[in-house]
Amino acid sequence: MKPGTLYGVGVGPGDPELITLKAVKVLNQVEVIFAASSSKNEYSLALENAKSHMYNGAEVLRLDFPMTRDKQVLRKTWEVNARQILAHLRQGKDVAFITIGDPLTYSTFGYMMQTITDMAPEIPIRIVPGVTSYQAATAAAREVMAEREQTFCVISGSEGGERLKEVISRVDCVIMLKVYRQLDRILDTLQELGIKDRITLVSRCGMKDQVISKNPEELRGKEVPYLSLLIVKKQ
Ligand SMILES: C[S@@+](CC[C@H](N)C(=O)[O-])C[C@H]1O[C@@H](n2cnc3c(N)ncnc32)[C@H](O)[C@@H]1O
Repeated sequence: MKPGTLYGVGVGPGDPELITLKAVKVLNQVEVIFAASSSKNEYSLALENAKSHMYNGAEVLRLDFPMTRDKQVLRKTWEVNARQILAHLRQGKDVAFITIGDPLTYSTFGYMMQTITDMAPEIPIRIVPGVTSYQAATAAAREVMAEREQTFCVISGSEGGERLKEVISRVDCVIMLKVYRQLDRILDTLQELGIKDRITLVSRCGMKDQVISKNPEELRGKEVPYLSLLIVKKQ
């Protein structure tokens, strides 16, 4: 039997109107939709954004991804999950794997795509890009990422401010995702580097409880939501 197609579908960063026509079209067609449960926030947000566009009879399945850095455990998990997806594809069903924002930007889908390609190179895979969290956030905060000859980069803040030290002197704007656990350490690094220029924290962008703080120092010691990012704009 001809296998189905696997679609990696970005469903946008939270604002239900920031989903593409192409994503809507695919969600309306596929019989099975997978969402990763690596973070409760991402799972429910991705589903929330996709829900109203799904084909009525679509089956929604949750894939578990443990929060671990153990490479062996991760590899095993990817393989187990890939087998689950492959079982549907091999029945000729088209399948979507939905992710918040864009599927190839800090997303579990990247690993799944690689694992499925390794295990079953014959499976057709299509990517539907999504509006990323940082595009939505810079728009909400009205911060230009780059113009003329400027550069910007996107980094992860999950390890604190070390990455920032590596890149800050070379670019005009840095976007840091995954800052929620390390915000205080990142603010320390910004102070250490003497960066007082425009720093904006955007939380839950596009949602009813969105927060835009132009003075993230005021958030020191506080718990910030998982869906938070920093925009550091040099002047
Ligand atoms: C695993 S990454 C997913 C990135 C996503 N694939 C994208 O294209 O933006 C999760 C991080 O994205 C950022 N994020 C995603 N949605 C967001 C939102 N609505 N508001 C603020 N930050 C968000 C946060 O930094 C969060 O910790």
